[in-house]
Amino acid sequence: MKRKDILGIKDLSRSEVNELLSTADVMREMIDRGEKSNSLRGKTVATLFYENSTRTRNSFELAAKNLGASTMSISVATSSVQKGETLVDTGKTLDALNTDVIIIRHSVAGSPQLLADTVKASVINAGDGMNEHPSQALLDALTAQRHFGSLVGKKAVIVGDVKHSRVARSDALLFSMLGAKVTVCAPYTLMPEGIDRFDCDVESDLDRAIVGADMVIALRMQLERMGQAYFSSKEEYNEYYGVTEKRLKLCSDDHIVMHPGPINRGAEIDGCVADGNDSVILEQVHNGVAVRMAMLQLLVGNAN
Ligand code: CP
Repeated sequence: MKRKDILGIKDLSRSEVNELLSTADVMREMIDRGEKSNSLRGKTVATLFYENSTRTRNSFELAAKNLGASTMSISVATSSVQKGETLVDTGKTLDALNTDVIIIRHSVAGSPQLLADTVKASVINAGDGMNEHPSQALLDALTAQRHFGSLVGKKAVIVGDVKHSRVARSDALLFSMLGAKVTVCAPYTLMPEGIDRFDCDVESDLDRAIVGADMVIALRMQLERMGQAYFSSKEEYNEYYGVTEKRLKLCSDDHIVMHPGPINRGAEIDGCVADGNDSVILEQVHNGVAVRMAMLQLLVGNAN
């Protein structure tokens, strides 16, 4: 891969996506055999998270360690950001510390691009505002591909708070690129303007959208990004947009249920579905390490 940064699915070519997913498959096999590599020995990977994270931050750190890199974790709550240091100055400081890769999560869309334009280090977007979350989309695609083989002609239904979801954007772009038929489903209040640009069908009735679905991707209700009420209660939301056992009966026989996490049980997904046989939510988490190893390897890995 001949690029400095990975900022969004929209920037990636089909051949780059294929290379990332096939490398992630190899990494997944390596993890399952309990093997590690030294292909990032001498490299330093920093995580710079301005928003909370459990899965993304820890799996990037684990991925870097699995490849022999040194890691630095900049906790914004206890860093000089609290003294007013700008993102660009923080980036220049990390450059001066000879950081090879900066993994950034920020509430403002476009922050990873600003950082990438400023620093020598490679930058990976770990989620920026309501824009993109490329590593999540890649791990979702890896999980689906490992289940179905090819995604060509498979129906993916992305349901929930599409308006505030960077995962919805990245997933819609990537699953369409891989040949899946994507339907996004949300109440009118949670459907963003311009969604039709994403090469997907748009549906507001989940009972219609879910018919024949091979993949149901439930999105988290992003309460922290909602400045107003978008629905009257969690129970009402669950009644119309919840992924429930009853609704899953409308899917194809061999369907899977995905969720980027963290989940709101009883809201966008029922607990019994999240824990049920169709759920691949923890498989997604497992594949997250492999995908992030592939991203690091292809950006800055030494040849073995
Ligand atoms: N899916 C996801 O981004 O999870 P975290 O917020 O825990 O990183």
